[in-house]
Amino acid sequence: MNLNIALLAGDGIGPEVIDQAVKVCNAVASKFNHEISWKSALVGAAAIDAVGEPYPDETHAICEASDAVLFGAIGDPRFDNNPSAKVRPEQGLLKMRKALGLFANVRPTFTFPSLIDKSPLKRDRIEGTDLVIVRELTGGVYFGERGRLNEGETAFDTMTYHRFEIERIAKKGFEMALKRGKKLCCVDKANVLEASRLWRETVQRMEKDYPEVEVTYEFVDAVAMRLIQWPKGYDVIITANLFGDILTDEASVISGSMGLMPSSSLGEKIGLYEPIHGSYPQAAGKDIANPLATVLSAAMLFEDLNLAEEAEAIREVVNKSLAEGIVTEDLADGGKSYKTSEVGDWLANNL
Ligand code: IPM
Ligand code: MN
Repeated sequence: MNLNIALLAGDGIGPEVIDQAVKVCNAVASKFNHEISWKSALVGAAAIDAVGEPYPDETHAICEASDAVLFGAIGDPRFDNNPSAKVRPEQGLLKMRKALGLFANVRPTFTFPSLIDKSPLKRDRIEGTDLVIVRELTGGVYFGERGRLNEGETAFDTMTYHRFEIERIAKKGFEMALKRGKKLCCVDKANVLEASRLWRETVQRMEKDYPEVEVTYEFVDAVAMRLIQWPKGYDVIITANLFGDILTDEASVISGSMGLMPSSSLGEKIGLYEPIHGSYPQAAGKDIANPLATVLSAAMLFEDLNLAEEAEAIREVVNKSLAEGIVTEDLADGGKSYKTSEVGDWLANNL
């Protein structure tokens, strides 16, 4: 098979972790007789520095012409404490999600047998956790009307949801639940917010089309607590953009390192695959960042292109590296650790 993959390394540790994922993908391709052509494009602060905007048209064209997008990270501290900055790297990510129609952000949380004791949570609470949060990604308060009133002394952001936006994300959630544990939890704040009441109403109406799926409705504040108390209780969660942003960071801690969890962002056409972690600027250029979340994101990419064996081969070699202690310093507990690039080489050589 011939695959065209757009490569958006972005900022901070993005380029380093992307390099390792490319090594692994190329090794998979040669093992399974595929041809990958990579097209690199600018995004984030790297793009602002080069051409003055965080998601240039040229990058969009390259993404649109690809089968999938592999993405590193976005964000640069130069912009963080400067509220008057007109362009920010994060705008690139938001613009890209919208322009590519990536309305469903799929963020799994699972545990690795060899890393259970790295989690801040107790073993018996988390062992066997296998859940996925499907976060709505192109609507809600992220994209609602916002502004200033009262000579700048008042600011507002609005959470707006249309029924079609809820239906399409719920459909993804139901379909995913059917392939997994057949449980779907709609997470909202329907005791307060009108938009959440529309979520509930919409999902309730869809229940009859998926009689095999057991559906529950929970408030987001309670879920923030239960995710830590009993993550094993969840299978598929669907939720609004901002709630999902917060809950997925929380959930990523369960596995033991933020450097481990992959994600996909899906729409009607192409998917984008990226690690859940950010650009980790303190580690940029040091060859110490954990590349596994990006490598596992590449596994999701293969899976979605119906290359399940290839995806499994990546997951297997990742598990093997963890079991053999070929890990970056975040997982080494002060013991022997390997560089980002060494982990990538090991994975590619052991596929
Ligand atoms: C994420 C990030 C982004 C978000 C930021 C960088 C805009 O936190 O992908 O979760 O809030 O969606
Ligand atoms: Mn986030």
